[in-house]
Amino acid sequence: MNESTSVTPVTISGTGSYVPEKILTNTDLEKIVDTSDEWIFSRTGIKERRIAAEGEFTSHMATKAAERALEQAGITAKEVDLIIVATITPDTLTPSTACYVQANLGASSAVAFDISAACSGFLYAMKLAKRLISDGAYQNALIIGAEKLSSFINWKDRNTCVLFGDGAGAAVLRKSEPGEGRILASETGSDGRHAGLLDIKGGGSACPITMANATDNLATLAMQGREVFKLAVTAMRQASEKVIERAGLTPDDITLVVPHQANLRIIDAISDRLAIPNEKVFVNLHKYGNTSAAAIAIALDEAHREGKFKRGDNIIMVAFGAGLTWAAAAIEW
Ligand code: ACO
Repeated sequence: MNESTSVTPVTISGTGSYVPEKILTNTDLEKIVDTSDEWIFSRTGIKERRIAAEGEFTSHMATKAAERALEQAGITAKEVDLIIVATITPDTLTPSTACYVQANLGASSAVAFDISAACSGFLYAMKLAKRLISDGAYQNALIIGAEKLSSFINWKDRNTCVLFGDGAGAAVLRKSEPGEGRILASETGSDGRHAGLLDIKGGGSACPITMANATDNLATLAMQGREVFKLAVTAMRQASEKVIERAGLTPDDITLVVPHQANLRIIDAISDRLAIPNEKVFVNLHKYGNTSAAAIAIALDEAHREGKFKRGDNIIMVAFGAGLTWAAAAIEW
C-alpha cells in the first residue's frame, strides 16, 4: 500500500549539509600508499575527498549541517522535538552524537539518539522519524547523517583509504500540509550473515583496544570490496524497485535518483537495471568519496540547492552499507 494513503503524510521541509575545508586528492594519496589517480578514478569515480580538521568531530559537522537545514525549514532549534543522528563514527561510544548536537543547537525540547546502520543510516532515520511523526509522537524531526571516517581509516591500506571521506547532511521532517510533497514509500533491510564483509573490529566490547593490540589497526575499517560490490547492486536494485512500485510510480515518473555515493560503477549498474538514464542520477562522489551515512544526506541537499528538482517531482533515494544494510525511499517533493 502507498504509505501516503495509509498514515498521516510527512514531508521534508528543509535540507542542509557541511563538508570540511581540507581536500585530499587522489594525487595526494599517491604519496601515502601505492596507488594512482588513474586506478582510483577508473575503479570508483572518486577524485578527491574532504578530511575533518584536528579537533573537528562528527558532532561539529552534524551541527553545521543541521543549522542549514533548520534555516531552510524556517524553524528554530527550540521547535525541534526529535534528533536522530545516523553515524558509524560517533564522537564517543556514549553519550550519543545526537546529544552533543542537541546541546550545540540548544534544542532543549528534543529527544536525541543515534542509530548505526552505516551507509543506509540516513534512510533508516528517515523511515523511523516519518513513522514517529505520523503516529503523533513528534512534530519536527531533525535527521542527520554525519561521519568522520578519517579517524577510522588505516592510512596504510590502499584497499580502503582511497574510498572514504568526512562530512554531514541533514533534513527536517514534519507533517505534510495539503498541497505539499510527502514521503511516498520507504524500504529498509538488513542481513547480518554478511557482517564480516565490512567492519571495524576493534574498539567495541568484543575487542577493546589495549596496549597489546594498539598497533594492529583494529579500530579501522576493513572491507572485502568485491563481495560488497555484488551484494550492493542486487540489494539497491531490489529496494529501489520496491519503493517505486509501492509509491505507484514507473521509472518514467522519476525526476531524480539520489543513490549512495560509494562507487560510480555501482551507481551506473543500478541506473542500468532500473532503466533510469544516467542524467537522472545525482552524483557527487568525485568530490567527497564515500561519506557513509552522510552521503545521501549531502547529495540530497546539493541536488536541492542546485535546483535539480522542484515541488511535485518524484525522487528515489537508495543506499547500501555495512551490516549488511540497505534502504530506499520514494519522495514526492
Ligand atoms: N590502488 C591500486 N591498486 C589497488 C588499490 C588502490 N587504491 N586498491 C586495491 N588495489 C588492487 C588490489 O590489490 C587488487 O590487486 P591484485 O589483483 O593484484 O590482488 C586489484 O587492485 C583489484 O582489486 P579489487 O578489489 O578486485 O578491485 P575492484 O575492481 O573490486 O574495486 C572497490 C575495489 C573499489 C573497493 C570495489 O570493490 C567497491 O567499490 N566495492 C564496494 C564498496 C561499497 O560499496 N561499500 C559500500 C558500503 S561502505 C560502508 O558501509 C561504510
